[in-house]
Formats: sequence, C-alpha cells, structure tokens
Amino acid sequence: MAKRKFRIYRGDNAKGEFADYETEVQEGMVVLDVIHRIQAEQANDLAVRWNCKAGKCGSCSMEINGKPKLACMTRMNEYQEDQTITVTTLKTFPVIKDLVTDVSWNYEQNKKIKPVKLHPQAKSDRGYVMYQEDVDRVQEFRKCIECYLCQDI
Ligand code: FES
Repeated sequence: MAKRKFRIYRGDNAKGEFADYETEVQEGMVVLDVIHRIQAEQANDLAVRWNCKAGKCGSCSMEINGKPKLACMTRMNEYQEDQTITVTTLKTFPVIKDLVTDVSWNYEQNKKIKPVKLHPQAKSDRGYVMYQEDVDRVQEFRKCIECYLCQDI
C-alpha cells in the first residue's frame, strides 16, 4: 500500500478549482477505485458518474492526466508512484458538478437519425433478408458504449 496524490476538479461549468487529495492505493486498483476512496473518506460531496465498473457502460469517462480515459479501466500502475494524478471532466461537455458532465447533446443528435427503411425488394418469403456485408458494416457502430471519449477535444 502506498500513498498517492490526486488533483480533482471540483466545481461546475461557471467556476471551479482543483482540490488536492492524498490517499492509500493498493495493488490492482483502478483510478475509479481511488476516486471512490477519496469520496468515502475525504470528500463525501464529490460527484462522479459510473455504473458498471467493467468498461461497458461508458459513464466513467474523464480526462486522466490530460488523456481521455475510462476511469474504471485505467490501472493505477500505469502511472509512476511519485506522479500526481490529475482528473477532470472531458472538455467537450459542460460540467454539471465535479466529474459529471452534461452529454445530452449526443442524445439530441441521436433523435435526428432517421430509422433505416428496408427496400421492398429485400423482402423474401422468409421475411427481410440482410446480407452479411451489411451486418458487418454496422457492427462497429453497435460496439459504441457512449463514453464519448472520441469527442474529447
Ligand atoms: Fe461503466 Fe466505467 S463504469 S465504463
């Protein structure tokens, strides 16, 4: 177990500042674990969004030492022991509080996407036929977990 230093953005879109924390980190911990420890022991009002802790839901996206990352998938051993870990929100989105952003713009855009209309000739006596090449084409987009790391500027 070793003490590690964290700088975490505290505030909202109008104003905020970095707060410094120091806490124990055990082997195998990810950045989200440490944020939860800080929240439990030193900053009960620290806002952070997360859900699955398995890299599936996309809700723990944030900037860790200036890089867009999922906090639940970022191991503490990626960083030097004497390195301060700086955590902020993704810069793209307005800050609601601390590490939580408003990503509703994406949902508004999603509503504008028109549903796929299948061509009448694609209908056979077995129903609509989908070709494997068409399935492959959309498969990549089906993997999106809506973390929005790709939108970070
Ligand atoms: Fe779900 Fe990190 S908590 S992706």
